Order: sequence, then C-alpha cells, then structure tokens
Amino acid sequence: MTESNKTATLTIHGKEYELPVHSPTAGPDVVDIRKLYGQAGVFTYDPGFTSTASCDSTITYIDGDKGELLHRGYPIDQLAAKSHFLEVCYLLLYGELPEAKALETFETTITRHTMLHEQMQYFYRGFRRDAHPMAIMVGVVGAMSAFYHDSTDIADPHQREVASHRLIAKMPTIAAWAYKYHTGQPFVYPRNDLDYASNFLRMCFSVPAEEYEVNPILSRAMDRIFTLHADHEQNASTSTVRLASSSGANPFACVAAGIACLWGPAHGGANQACLEMLEEIGSVDRIPEYINRAKDKDDPFRLMGFGHRVYKNFDPRATVMKQSADEVLDLLGIENNPKLQVAKALEKQALEDPYFTEKKLFPNVDFYSGIILEAMGFPTSMFTPIFALSRTVGWVSQWKEMIADPQNKIGRPRQLYLGETNRDYVDIEKR
Ligand code: CMC
Repeated sequence: MTESNKTATLTIHGKEYELPVHSPTAGPDVVDIRKLYGQAGVFTYDPGFTSTASCDSTITYIDGDKGELLHRGYPIDQLAAKSHFLEVCYLLLYGELPEAKALETFETTITRHTMLHEQMQYFYRGFRRDAHPMAIMVGVVGAMSAFYHDSTDIADPHQREVASHRLIAKMPTIAAWAYKYHTGQPFVYPRNDLDYASNFLRMCFSVPAEEYEVNPILSRAMDRIFTLHADHEQNASTSTVRLASSSGANPFACVAAGIACLWGPAHGGANQACLEMLEEIGSVDRIPEYINRAKDKDDPFRLMGFGHRVYKNFDPRATVMKQSADEVLDLLGIENNPKLQVAKALEKQALEDPYFTEKKLFPNVDFYSGIILEAMGFPTSMFTPIFALSRTVGWVSQWKEMIADPQNKIGRPRQLYLGETNRDYVDIEKR
C-alpha cells in the first residue's frame, strides 16, 4: 500500500486525531484506523463489517450500485461468455489471463491432481448414508490435512502452490463422491481426457452398469455455473478462510472452515433454500401471499435469492444465470417448468413492489442457479456443494494473497462489552 497524503480528522472527547485515508484503484476511500486504539484508546464498532475493509486485495472488485463484478479487472459477463472455468482459475490465482502454453500446463496440472488418496474412501464410509453432502464436504476437506502432509507448510511457496492445485483439482471428486455416497451408488473415478465440468458431471451421473455420454451443452452450462461462483471478494466464507488462515492454520483446514460458513442459508445455502421456496409457492397465484410474508416485519420469512449485502442493483451473475436457465431447459425440452414460471413471475412482481425497489432488493446469483441444477438432475442437497467447489479457487486465491502479504497478522477483532463488570463469586448455597 502506498503512503497517502489524504487524512480524516476524528474528534473524540474534544481531542482531534488525524487518520490516513487510502484511495483504492476503484471504490470508496478507506480510513486507516490501525493506530486509533494506540493513539486514542477507543475501538470502532461495526458488527457485520458493513463499513469495514478487512484487507487490501487485487483479485476481485464489486461495484454494488452499478451491479458490476470484475475479476482482475475483467467483467464477469465477458468471462462467462468468452472464457471458461479453468482459465478463470488461472486468472484469479496468478493475476493475468494465461498465454496458450501456460493454460495448457495449468490444465494438465489440475487434471493430474483429480484423484483422491484411496484411503479417503474409508473416511467417506464413516458417514451415515443420509448425511447432507455439505456435512461430508466439511469433514473430507478438513481431512485432506491428514492425507496430504507434504502441502501443509504454509511458509513454503512450493507447498502453497501444490495445496492450491490439489484443492481446485480434487474438489469436483470430493463433491461428486459426497453425492454418490449420499445416493448409495459406487464412487466413480475421475477421467483425465475430460474437461473439468464434464468430468464432474460424469463422476456424479455415470454408473458402472452403463456408459455416460456428457452432453456438451450441459457441460458448458455447468462450467458457466462454476465460473459465475468463482470468487466474490471478502464475503462471509472468504473472510472465514482468511481469518482461519491468519493463525497459520493449514490451507485444507481453512477451506473446510470456508465450506462450513458457506453452508448457511444467508450465504451459499440460499440456492437450496430458494428452490425449496419456489416449490413451496407452487403456483403463480400464490406469489402475492409470499411477497406479503416477506414484507411483514413480524414474519421471519425472506424471499430467498433476493437481496445482497453489496449489490444494490441487479447481481450481474443473476443476469447470466437467467439466460443459462432458459437455454438448459430448452435443450432438455423442459417446457412450462412450474418452478421457472413461478421464479419469473415472482421476480416480476417483486420488482414492481416498492418494498423491494426502495430497499434495492434484486435477484442474486442463487435465484436461478437451482433451477438449472435441478434440470440437470441434481437434488437440492447438491446445490451448495457445487457452490463450494466453484468458490474453492476464490478461497485459495485470497488465501495465497494473504499469506504472501507482509502486513498479514492474526485476525483479532475487539468488542463492545455490555456484560457485568468485576463481581465476587457467590457460593452455591447463597444464590
Ligand atoms: N426478503 C425480504 N426482505 C429482505 C430480504 C429478502 N430476501 N433481504 C433483505 N431484506 C430487507 C431486510 O428485512 C431489511 O429490511 P429493514 O431495513 O426494514 O430492516 C433490509 O432489506 C436490509 O436487509 P439486511 O438484512 O440488513 O441486509 P444484509 O445486507 O444484512 O443481508 C442478505 C443481505 C443476502 C443476507 C439478505 O438480503 C438475505 O437474507 N437474502 C436472502 C438470502 C439470499 O438470497 N442469500 C444469497 C446471497 S447471494 C449468494 C452469496 O453471496 O452467498
């Protein structure tokens, strides 16, 4: 970070403090409060980090008002239309679009790391068959630390590189096997002649009894879903990965923490929750009832797939996802899909309602992804694992950036304490 000439003045109890202000390449200025406690003896208070930049980063930029998402400067709609997932992985990890030879080498490296240690099968078999695939993924990814000791030394750049490649390469196998275990079918091994998305579809849907032909249009749609979820700057799961890693924990443990955070319905779990909501609504005539519930302060119900902490305009990923949903349903000959009809009508009615427009609540990436995934044959329980596999490259890129940053120190937020002050212990017979 370069030294800044700009400052902000803060007056506390009549005394003034000059704070440096940093200007980013894009986005709002940032007031640097790192020395504030030392100088003024006060903390800042920002639950949910609504006004706090937790790090500096060069990976992803979001302009929430414009509805813009850039990876290393490239707009997501261009990447979704012209690039493909592994190229986007390279871009996120290394900062530039690769030349042909570099891309080929990277793709070969990822392809050669897709198999899991054979012993990991027994780890899967310890889970109940009805375990949610996300529960399996949290456990199995955390367990990678026990299987791949030779890439857990975060001080060694080579080991960091190998860990990054392993995580990106093995995640489709881990997610597909979680699905296979959940459904009671045999595990399917990866195949090196297939591209990343086709390989994942085959590991999910093929069975030993018959050959599985990967449909190139579905594989392209799968690849686009991976691309659209690849990174999203300092969201809850990415911040979890960064915080876990700030203590020096190994990358597999940190990504397992990210997966656990992603699982929640306010974050990655929203795609499953959204499809379940569309199913529950069931028909277009019941939409007003659900819109009224979402607007009712006394009802905890929220329109899943609507709203975003950063986007106060259309989520650019949702626009691409909506087109993809139309293409996939058309290809599969699924006409008049009731959930798609409910989704389209719900989007229209919500966007005509002042409650949603005034609060700037627009459809997010999860609003249409579930419809595509269901049409491809995935059960709702696999939606969030697919998000986790796509986001792994984002977690890994942010983790690598953080470890390489000389300013990196353990994350240790403070608090506004509102509990009892010092008091004497009372013996049990006197309480
Ligand atoms: N339905 C109805 N009302 C909503 C919704 C919604 N989906 N989202 C926000 N609001 C209201 C909320 O009640 C609040 O109203 P008021 O100001 O009157 O109290 C206002 O809008 C602002 O909401 P907030 O909770 O302060 O906003 P936030 O930035 O903390 O939350 C969010 C963002 C994504 C958690 C929230 O919009 C939400 O719960 N959405 C539904 C879940 C969802 O789709 N999540 C996926 C996010 S995109 C994928 C990802 O990044 O993981």
